[in-house]
Amino acid sequence: MARFLVTGGAGYVGSHTVLALLDRGDEVVVLDDLSKGHRAAVPAGATLVQGRCDDPRAVEAAFARGPFEAVLHFAALSLVGDSMRDPMRYIGENVAGVTAVAGAAAKAGCRKFVLSSTAALFGFPDRIPIDEEQRLEPASAYGESKLLCERALAWAEKVHGMRFAALRYFNAAGADPDGRAGEDHDPETHLIPLAIGAALGLRPPLTVFGDDYDTPDGTCIRDYVHVTDLAEAHLRALPVLEERSVRYNLGNGTGYSVKQVLDTVARVGGRPVPHGYGPRRAGDPAALVASSRRLREETGWMPRFPALEDIVRTAWAWHAAHPRGYAGR
Ligand code: UFG
Repeated sequence: MARFLVTGGAGYVGSHTVLALLDRGDEVVVLDDLSKGHRAAVPAGATLVQGRCDDPRAVEAAFARGPFEAVLHFAALSLVGDSMRDPMRYIGENVAGVTAVAGAAAKAGCRKFVLSSTAALFGFPDRIPIDEEQRLEPASAYGESKLLCERALAWAEKVHGMRFAALRYFNAAGADPDGRAGEDHDPETHLIPLAIGAALGLRPPLTVFGDDYDTPDGTCIRDYVHVTDLAEAHLRALPVLEERSVRYNLGNGTGYSVKQVLDTVARVGGRPVPHGYGPRRAGDPAALVASSRRLREETGWMPRFPALEDIVRTAWAWHAAHPRGYAGR
């Protein structure tokens, strides 16, 4: 049993990772300002310190609950479109958060750090699947902010000996298979919750952003990876940090088009997804699919829910049970 600091542990991927840590008997302290996350998403077994990662007093209060085996840093602004309206805020806040937390970790003698990074590092990739050797050329300020976070951690390693794992998530989706947590963003911009919401009549009809891409059915292809599998990847990455720092691309390795996702939602839910077609969304690459070979080979990670049907089924169950998200709990 060990104790972990999880920043952003009230958010979507963070809360599922807190569950995974608690399930295996670890102790968890969550640092979250609840600006995007939800108090009800923090499992009862975890301790919540409410505050921002770039607030030295909040970070100090969190580290006072240590010592920690490792820090898992999820807290960040994460909307690609938003980041293009306010790039300096995204870069400033995301870099300030990681540097403040990693700096405090080094001071406290905690030398293992797991960063939520993103496929957005790769911008418009030359080829798919995307492995770790591909060119890093973010096409958004969000992607750039995460690249800078990875680079900052490389300096923490050089100077403080801190080891880090940068996990570049592709499209996180689904919900805890036991129904203990789910996806609740405000505003919601992600395809699967919007499609389920439309099918359930909780949200307006969905707009498909472009059907003239160079893909088999003209809609964008993405690699959807179950949030519980993402959480498990964090646990798998930790032992590697005994030896070295790592960067892993994290997806299922299979791409699905927007139309295939809508078909799957309709099939799983047993009702159609009301939708129409609109123009492309700025900054959307035609296809993003991960090669997670390095992660699998080096950590033994294997997704438990690789099938899109299962990802959608768990998401559907959570949204159907929580039509108002965490507000209804
Ligand atoms: N889409 C629609 N209509 C919608 C919402 C989404 O057609 O109303 C489409 C998008 O154009 C895209 C796909 O559905 O082709 C998936 O879109 P999401 O917004 O769900 O996810 P993104 O692929 O845009 O972004 C996700 C994460 C980002 C991360 C990125 C990297 O949310 O944080 O993956 O792959 F940077």
